Amino acid sequence: MAIKKNNPMFSLVLSFFCLAILADHYMVVNALSPNYYDQTCPNVESAITSVVKKAMLNDPTVPAALLRMHFHDCFIRGCDGSVLLNSTGKNQAEKDGPPNISLHAFYVIDNAKKAVEALCPKTVSCADILALAARDAVTLSGGPKWDVPKGRKDGRVSKATETRQLPGPTFNISQLQQSFAQRGLSMEDLVALSGGHTLGFAHCSSFQNRIHNFNSKQSVDPSLQSSFAASLKSVCPLKNTAKNAGANLDSTPTTFDNRYYKLLLQGKSIFSSDQSLITSTNTKALVSKFASSQKEFQNAFVKSMIKMSSINGGQEVRLDCRVVN
Ligand code: HEM
Ligand SMILES: *[C@@H]1O[C@H](CO)[C@@H](O)[C@H](O)[C@H]1NC(C)=O
Ligand SMILES: *[C@@H]1O[C@H](CO)[C@@H](O)[C@H](O)[C@H]1NC(C)=O
Ligand SMILES: *[C@@H]1O[C@H](CO)[C@@H](O)[C@H](O)[C@H]1NC(C)=O
Repeated sequence: MAIKKNNPMFSLVLSFFCLAILADHYMVVNALSPNYYDQTCPNVESAITSVVKKAMLNDPTVPAALLRMHFHDCFIRGCDGSVLLNSTGKNQAEKDGPPNISLHAFYVIDNAKKAVEALCPKTVSCADILALAARDAVTLSGGPKWDVPKGRKDGRVSKATETRQLPGPTFNISQLQQSFAQRGLSMEDLVALSGGHTLGFAHCSSFQNRIHNFNSKQSVDPSLQSSFAASLKSVCPLKNTAKNAGANLDSTPTTFDNRYYKLLLQGKSIFSSDQSLITSTNTKALVSKFASSQKEFQNAFVKSMIKMSSINGGQEVRLDCRVVN
């Protein structure tokens, strides 16, 4: 028999070797599963959903904030809750880094964490809570509903300087492609996830480049539809722009729909990065597809959200989302 031929010492060493590889693998990559909390915290999702629902009744900007927060979290050190950490005496955290202008509604995650800790202490990571809250934000705004794979761990590092790794609103298509590819995301993911700009608001500083001194020959980006450009200029004059002035990212900023793509094709997008999606043939075809089919957009968005929200990081289950254990 084969077993007899094996040296028992060899099999023992071999099994330890395999275990070591497995253990090592799982320390680096937390395998996510939609059923992750089925035994340990079966009601986690409904607890989070009711917190998000309540918050958005008081403040309709909450869903946009949660979706953007999750995107920032995933693009820096993976989806590890690093965006949630407070600065400490010696460390300036991501949330105090330069493009933090639109980050808000952190209290919603705190409230969700409180509710979840009361149900099942020390079990659910802040990164998972944020991923679920972002999904709820989309669903409760009229978007699709999907099962979120869970089992993320929270990280222990958050640095303001690393927010430089986020794609910027003046990025062109090749810069966007590179930023997404570095995180294992494709051009289709880029176009589908940019549809997150169906929710929310931008400050004038984020699209300033398109309406004043666009280039040496033109003051306004010629790809902007002219009356739309004029309205952006009137809310964001070159001088004395009000601190909180800006524009909604689409004309239905609290409804998760495909209007963003329709407006994009009409020259009514807010950022240069949005406009750049129609400067390449392949991405333009995707924009047209999503503009003409809500269903195609929703399916692609869900697929890409699951991909983005699986970018790995983290090693602990934080007790307070704003501080490491
Ligand atoms: C493709 C690269 C992206 C760039 C360059 C970008 C850039 C920006 C900028 C500059 C703002 C406005 C900040 C401000 O002025 O207040 C913004 C807002 C927003 N972004 Fe993006 N973004 C990108 C991708 C995404 C993705 C992937 C999502 C989510 C799936 C997303 C969701 C949002 C939301 C919801 C808002 C509105 C936030 C609010 O109203 O509170 N963005 N984005
Ligand atoms: C984190 O920062 C916020 C805002 O500055 C503050 O209200 C909160 O008490 C801080 N939380 C912790 C745990 O340090
Ligand atoms: C953004 O960062 C500045 C400091 O750089 C800080 O004063 C402000 O509170 C931060 N905003 C948010 C929403 O955390
Ligand atoms: C995008 O911008 C980068 C950096 O400015 C530049 O090198 C590149 O040629 C640009 N690509 C396109 C397609 O415009």
